[in-house]
Amino acid sequence: MQTLGIIGGSGLTRLKALQLHRQEFVATPYGEPSASLTFGELDGSPVVFLPRHGASHSFPPHRVNYRANLWAMKQAGVERIVGVAAVGGITAAMAPGVLCIPDQVIDYTWGREHTLFSDDLDSVTHIDFSEPYCEPLRQDLLRAARRVGVTVHAGGTYGTTQGPRLESAAEIRRMEADGCDVVGMTGMPETSLARELALCYASLSLSVNWAAGKNDGPITMAEVQSHLDQGMAVVLKVLAAAAGG
Ligand code: HPA
Repeated sequence: MQTLGIIGGSGLTRLKALQLHRQEFVATPYGEPSASLTFGELDGSPVVFLPRHGASHSFPPHRVNYRANLWAMKQAGVERIVGVAAVGGITAAMAPGVLCIPDQVIDYTWGREHTLFSDDLDSVTHIDFSEPYCEPLRQDLLRAARRVGVTVHAGGTYGTTQGPRLESAAEIRRMEADGCDVVGMTGMPETSLARELALCYASLSLSVNWAAGKNDGPITMAEVQSHLDQGMAVVLKVLAAAAGG
């Protein structure tokens, strides 16, 4: 069985259900990953877990060393990775609590180390990114969700903002006009770096709030936290099923 790599986001800094085998710190040419890699089993299936924001949630989205994280996973022999993300829902179908497996991404971030091809012009590779996510892994996730009776939204465009602040209502209106269904802060450059490393990468995105201006009043962290707590239990079920094949 091919090991599943899992990059956990907010609400998933630890995989409680993981049967732990070992932890390994992987040094990379791009600096330190967010944490040591955790090797273990989810329901008897091998996984390698990495908390995107660090073991004690110390790296905000614009400070995550995405290059080191993806490189470390590759170095560990992982070939398929699910990036778990908490997102805001923009379009009507993406209500808080909904799980989405996006099929497109738009990058609104800036100033992040976003490529492995920054130094040597001779080796610059212009990767194809027409379909940014790995379709076989998206299908695996959809099948896994079906197997465990979890409803997921199959598709959607993930707009990645810089953060750490949330968006203005006008920014969300613009993103909706651009075609975004959900908004999060970590989708890029994680997705494109995975492609640069020829890794099979898909996103499992959990809506934890209505995006700015889509609901009455401000976005509260209490609302976000309650959807994170409930939703991550469901995310875990899908991940365990996906790890099994
Ligand atoms: N915007 C950006 N990132 C997010 C949001 C949001 O509304 N919710 C969770 N992550």
